[in-house]
Amino acid sequence: MPIAFSTASDVPSGTDVLGIAVFAGPTVAADAGVEVDLSFLTRQGFEGKVGETLPLLADDGGTVIAVGLGDEATIEADDLRRAAAAFAKAAWQASSAAFVLPADLPLDARKATKAVVEGVGLSAYQGGLYKSAPKPSQLRSLTVVGGDDSGAERGAAVVEAVVFARDLVNEPAGAMSPSRLADAARAVADTSGFEVTVLDEKAIEREALGGLLGVSRGSAEPPRLIRMEWTPPNPTATVVLVGKGITFDSGGLSLKSGEGMMHMKGDMAGAAAVLATMTALPTWQPSVRVIGIIPATENMPGGRAIKPGDVLRFRNGKTAEVLNTDAEGRLVLADGLSLAVEAEPDAIIDLATLTGACVSALGREIAGVMGNDDGIVRQVIDASQEAGEPMWHLPLPKRYRKHIDSDIADMKNVGVNGQAGALSAGLFLQEFVADVPWAHLDIAGPSWSDSVDAYTPKGGTGVGVRTLLELLDHFEKVRQPT
Ligand code: BES
Ligand code: MN
Ligand code: ZN
Repeated sequence: MPIAFSTASDVPSGTDVLGIAVFAGPTVAADAGVEVDLSFLTRQGFEGKVGETLPLLADDGGTVIAVGLGDEATIEADDLRRAAAAFAKAAWQASSAAFVLPADLPLDARKATKAVVEGVGLSAYQGGLYKSAPKPSQLRSLTVVGGDDSGAERGAAVVEAVVFARDLVNEPAGAMSPSRLADAARAVADTSGFEVTVLDEKAIEREALGGLLGVSRGSAEPPRLIRMEWTPPNPTATVVLVGKGITFDSGGLSLKSGEGMMHMKGDMAGAAAVLATMTALPTWQPSVRVIGIIPATENMPGGRAIKPGDVLRFRNGKTAEVLNTDAEGRLVLADGLSLAVEAEPDAIIDLATLTGACVSALGREIAGVMGNDDGIVRQVIDASQEAGEPMWHLPLPKRYRKHIDSDIADMKNVGVNGQAGALSAGLFLQEFVADVPWAHLDIAGPSWSDSVDAYTPKGGTGVGVRTLLELLDHFEKVRQPT
């Protein structure tokens, strides 16, 4: 059951659990008309560090939880997300909760409220979709005292979208085939006010999407190309989002190890982020037209599968020699990006669980960003900072283009073994974006989490949704890349 988020200037009567945000410092300080015995907190060893909580019994028998915010001088939105997440975990059994923002918070009220809603909503997520006795958070309402209405509204839309993305990723591949993914897009299209068209296998062939078709050949499940479109009243620009939708990546004939394919139901996390982002647009109302493109297929080693050495021809006419069928993401994205260019947009952003090399380089918590235009890359990284989804700019060096030279085709789908694997994948994609400003987000690391951290659960994280929404909200046209 979703949590209802609201704001108020005072704590609503009958609230089960009250969270009081407290800055760290020589003497901790609380505010917003709620009295907390500060010396008591200090005596209990409470320091006010980010995410530290201390439950107290209030005079009326209710529970008050002191929640640390860290240093006042350096506080940022993500500290509030983390603090709110710790509060939500401490209030797991409560049905109604209120979170009191400090009156002297040196952050914009809308951003602060949004961060608190995100922290609470995202940490209350439970991934055990198939557990027979789940123990979900009992929280049904959260009031941000001293908060801003539109921040709460936007935060609630973010929570709903990220939860949707996580569910899509966590759903087993057996239940989330390409056609089921397309059904999921159709199912939310109406309420979210976007249009969706789905190409089936025949249409994919007719439209010359040779990469998507090629990758799908080893699977008994037919591929789908999902296209979504949301248009505001007076669009100022068009942005196309492309998401890698491999609903299971076995590696194909270049088969992965058992260990290597354990979490490969999550290889559609880019697609999940794109689809989920579309659902939050009616609430966020960015001024740009948004097109979402998802090439969806399994990557399996069936008898009709593409073989190492086969050559595929993509939508834009270019060809690639497939030397490793496990480098399938770039093959389906090649068609997705070609279609994106045909919409003549002002920018293309793709999200893909593309390379293990990016996980090696940046780990599980930071996404790699590459692109053909520093302006659009800058916008993505600024948005990611705002959203609390860390990303790092990686280069697309012309001198490494030779890594994907093929003897028989325009390029090959692998680079030099052990060298710059995230970059050769990015250079491959660059062949399909023409001169449209483009950023590629390799989310192989942060799309999946092996441990619980603040508001990030185990399994699918829903990464990318928050960054995309911030990006679309602030989007500015950049000049054509050179
Ligand atoms: N889906 C994988 C990348 C991946 C790895 C995602 C780990 C999440 C966690 C991708 O399709 C893949 O297999 N990439 C290969 C490319 C290689 C064969 C050039 C890889 O990274 O090993
Ligand atoms: Mn693969
Ligand atoms: Zn893959």
